[in-house]
Amino acid sequence: MANPVAGDPAAVRRGQGLFLQNCAPCHGAEADGRGPGSVGLRPPPADLAGPEVVPKHPDGWLYWRIAHGKRGTAMPSFAFSLSEPERWSIVAFLRSLQAGARPADSAPAPGAARAPLVSAH
Ligand code: HEC
Repeated sequence: MANPVAGDPAAVRRGQGLFLQNCAPCHGAEADGRGPGSVGLRPPPADLAGPEVVPKHPDGWLYWRIAHGKRGTAMPSFAFSLSEPERWSIVAFLRSLQAGARPADSAPAPGAARAPLVSAH
């Protein structure tokens, strides 16, 4: 499912606030999985700022995880405590971390640095 608020700066800000309230206790304010409540959890909360989780899954998967939690882990379901728009805004926030957090993304695409010898137009 596509995120109806993808990339919307207001939704990203709202998602950040919701993340700090609801997720940071375990996943950490930096979303790196090292919140105060993460101590002793097995498995530990996922690193949501790094390359292993968020970039590898579509928005709908992240949304589903937030709604349903993850069985066998401390990850709770937020189906009743967060509305659908609130869950989507958290997904938009998590996506926005990726854009900024990975320097490789801001590097020019391979080939982009080679200026054409003759401009096409
Ligand atoms: C009580 C602690 C706790 C809270 C609160 C919490 N999480 Fe989690 N979360 C976990 C744990 C533990 C896992 C399991 C990590 C694993 O399976 O390796 C997890 C897993 C996840 C995953 C899936 C990672 C994967 O690879 O399967 C996502 C996405 C996620 N959390 C997002 C959130 C978001 C967004 C919030 C807030 C709305 C939140 N979590 C709140 C502890 C928490």
